[in-house]
Amino acid sequence: MIRCLRISTTMFAKKSIPGTILFKRYFDRCLSNIPELTKNRYPVNRGDYAILNDNHVQFFKNLLDNRIITDPDECESYNIDWIKNVRGYSTCVLKPKTTEEVSKILAFCNENRIAVCPQGGNTGLVGGSVPVFDEVILNTSLMRTIYNINGTSGVLICQAGCVLEDLDNALAEHGLMMPLDLGAKGLCHIGGNVATNAGGLRLLRYGNLHGSVLGVEAVKADGQIIDLLSALKKDNTGFHLKHLFIGSEGVLGIITKVAIQCPPKPLAINLAFLGLPSFKHVLKVLKQAKRDLGEILASCELIDQSTMRVSTENLKLRLPFPEEYPFYMLIESHGSNTVHDEEKLTVFLEEIMKNELILNGILAKAPSTIRKIWELRERLTEGFVLDGYVFKYDISLPIENFYSLVPVMQERLSGLKDVIRVSGYGHLGDGNIHFQVSCREFSQEILQKIEPFVYEYTSKLRGSISAEHGIGFRKPKYVHYSKSPESIVIMKQLKTLFDPKGILNPYKVLPP
Ligand code: FAD
Ligand code: MLT
Ligand code: ZN
Repeated sequence: MIRCLRISTTMFAKKSIPGTILFKRYFDRCLSNIPELTKNRYPVNRGDYAILNDNHVQFFKNLLDNRIITDPDECESYNIDWIKNVRGYSTCVLKPKTTEEVSKILAFCNENRIAVCPQGGNTGLVGGSVPVFDEVILNTSLMRTIYNINGTSGVLICQAGCVLEDLDNALAEHGLMMPLDLGAKGLCHIGGNVATNAGGLRLLRYGNLHGSVLGVEAVKADGQIIDLLSALKKDNTGFHLKHLFIGSEGVLGIITKVAIQCPPKPLAINLAFLGLPSFKHVLKVLKQAKRDLGEILASCELIDQSTMRVSTENLKLRLPFPEEYPFYMLIESHGSNTVHDEEKLTVFLEEIMKNELILNGILAKAPSTIRKIWELRERLTEGFVLDGYVFKYDISLPIENFYSLVPVMQERLSGLKDVIRVSGYGHLGDGNIHFQVSCREFSQEILQKIEPFVYEYTSKLRGSISAEHGIGFRKPKYVHYSKSPESIVIMKQLKTLFDPKGILNPYKVLPP
């Protein structure tokens, strides 16, 4: 039975909390949750890199005017990843401000065979952003200059360390916005976003970064600066080398500047939050949304019931309606004309109600309400960590199979008493599910039950073992499930060409 579809402008009218404050609270709560050292938990051997000595440190101090952290306690948060999966033990965090400083650091490290871990906001989810052993951390948090925002062309040029949310705020003054949006926007850097080819919540409408990044500037392992910072929409002069850096996760070079095509900020935004009885109903609603909303469809996200409890129970957030449902969908529209968009949304909502595809729903128009509902979705990553330890998988599957992995894994893990939750949510509109197994603490037994099974399952369905988070430290040995042997050989050849001594982000991305 369909309950109702309410149009809400007042619900949750409370002011929303900025991303940075949410993140700080999260870190405070998780401080006790320190993972075991990566070198002890995983079978990996330190490469033949130099051990940092006083002369090396003195060189960095002189170069960076003391923008360097060497105190082990202060280094701790730079050594641990956001979801507390991995931990390195670097005693040196470098904070350059300019491309020239990055270049000098890398030239020195290359000459002295010092391994380097590039790091932006350290929100990466595959263990790529922290050292495995004692790699020097090159953190971009002081590279945060915005050079230009062109209100007519929509092109933004900035340094790699700009925080995504800050860029969005700066663009808003020009009537523009960033083409991507992530739950981590209050912390992640644009350089990190480009290095991971981050997807996020509005990829369905605005495409991925291979489309919107117009140019990058990057520094190779030997310190050479490569200027690919074109701000042109069209430029077919030879190979597009910028694409090599998009999604390269710090193994080919350090991205220092980016030029990005930014869309106009939509004048009309609406968000439908729906409760549904089954995945079959979800697929029908997706199809209808594509048909009825067409070009204004900006986001189509799915959350299953068990995942939603992470928000309601762990984070104590409130659902817009009192009942629980097996599935929830968030469907957002972005347009330039309120009346036009409302007409489309009305047709869509009437159609799905008439066909009894949903059990309940709310259409939010007020920005404060929309933000509150998104909080239920955007804070899931944080909520899962509060379960204890989370095994996280980021998978692309054919749309009919989007959810099929979850019941298969629920069955497979059913006897294990330490498992708290086996659930899924994600970017339905892009065919990208985030599959989670959470438990009180890390367990080898649970890990062996999940991997490589989850990758074999994905590969059999011709899916991808990493839709948007990348390969990082956690997945190099599984790349072959999604890439042919020939393409892995070419990737390795490119790595050797860009970084012959292998100093950049070792143990990551490429299979051993
Ligand atoms: P980091 O985590 O610091 O680094 C990520 C990788 O990029 C590492 O391998 C690092 O070595 C490399 N790197 C960083 N900066 C540079 C640079 N300047 N040059 C070269 N290499 C560099 N991801 C998505 O795709 N979609 C989402 O919806 C999404 N939501 C998230 C929500 C939350 C709450 C969290 C915690 C994470 C989320 N992520 C998501 C993952 C993560 O935020 C993204 O991958 C983000 O793009 C990483 O940016 P960062 O600055 O934190 O990079
Ligand atoms: C998301 O879509 O929420 C992100 O990719 C982060 C995650 O999977 O935890
Ligand atoms: Zn995601």
